[in-house]
Amino acid sequence: MTKGIFPLDQFSGLRTPFYFYDTDLLRKTLQIVKTESEKYNFHVHYAIKANANDRILSIINSYGLGVDCVSGGEIEAAMAAGFSADKIVYAGVGKSDWEIELALDANIQCFNVESIAELEVINSIACSKNKTAKIALRVNPEVDAKTHHYITTGLKENKFGVSMELLDKVLDRAISLSNIELIGLHFHVGSQITDLSVFNDVCTRINIVLKMVEKKGVSIQIINVGGGLGINYQDPNGDPIPDFARYFKIFNENLQVKEGQEVHFEPGRSIVCQCGSLITRVLYIKEGVNKNFCIVDAGMTELIRPALYQAYHLIENISSDEIAEKYEVVGPICESSDCFGKDVELNKAHRGNFIAMRSAGAYGQIMASQYNCRTLPAAYYSEDFK
Ligand code: LLP
Repeated sequence: MTKGIFPLDQFSGLRTPFYFYDTDLLRKTLQIVKTESEKYNFHVHYAIKANANDRILSIINSYGLGVDCVSGGEIEAAMAAGFSADKIVYAGVGKSDWEIELALDANIQCFNVESIAELEVINSIACSKNKTAKIALRVNPEVDAKTHHYITTGLKENKFGVSMELLDKVLDRAISLSNIELIGLHFHVGSQITDLSVFNDVCTRINIVLKMVEKKGVSIQIINVGGGLGINYQDPNGDPIPDFARYFKIFNENLQVKEGQEVHFEPGRSIVCQCGSLITRVLYIKEGVNKNFCIVDAGMTELIRPALYQAYHLIENISSDEIAEKYEVVGPICESSDCFGKDVELNKAHRGNFIAMRSAGAYGQIMASQYNCRTLPAAYYSEDFK
């Protein structure tokens, strides 16, 4: 028996909780990303922070994307999955010396640099290795992403990027350093952006910065516009693939790109989110005062987004067709925040039913922890169940 995309019969022998990935959907999404970005000769680097599962990475690699990393561990994971180093960009406000060394030794494509202090350290490490580090300066464009404050990065108060006021000074320093080659500018204003007009604002700001930099006589080869395209958490079945056509078109129409300049993108969530679900079993239905708790065997350890960002995930009882009832769906972790949703309508739930937490392919498995001495969740793939 299958329920939607889920091969329920084959789930029955599996220990829960686990991640289930719809690899057909992942491939369809990647094909659209490829087709739509190639229309404009745009380059796409997958933001590996969203999901670094090796099977998922090797599928993404097979579509020819590059990777956006934020740690030495991510660079290692990308290379282990077969991505070539010249398609790896490395960002982050706090790069350690060993991570910079690793990136230089691997000859990655570009460091996205966020401060003068970091420029100087990269320069001296590159100097000691007799290498030149290619860098893009991350500019904080002060554009409001209109998303959750924890995942907003492009405002003055955020730790990310070089503020517009300091840009001139940082550019001067970058140009003056012997083992630094400034090749690009990098921008990223936030994540889960569903109001696409934000990207029009991003383009307007980037155009202003490009003019300013040009005036200084600095030539820019790469314009990296970051990631952030949001997905539909409310309706993963009806709207499984974000509107990449419209997204890339906005940049094509609004960004003033000069001959020879490349435009780079760093989508994470929009590529992998809808293909992943966290599958869990109902342990107990517990009667409370004025509500019933549906206690499942997955917790914030396997999917932390509801606890951390008050994020909504569609929750479905995929084992039952009985009339829906309301539950507070909670996990077994000893924290009150270990709650997946209040007033969740589920087909009447019984012990042993499978529950699917949808849209969990991004920032799900990768953010899992072992708190309470839990085992990290396993992953299964639809293509293995055929
Ligand atoms: N580029 C940079 C510089 C970033 O900081 C991020 C995400 C991305 C690209 C990818 O953004 P995406 O396309 O996935 O929106 N854990 C949070 C999301 C944190 C995002 C951090 N930066 C969540 O679960 O919502």
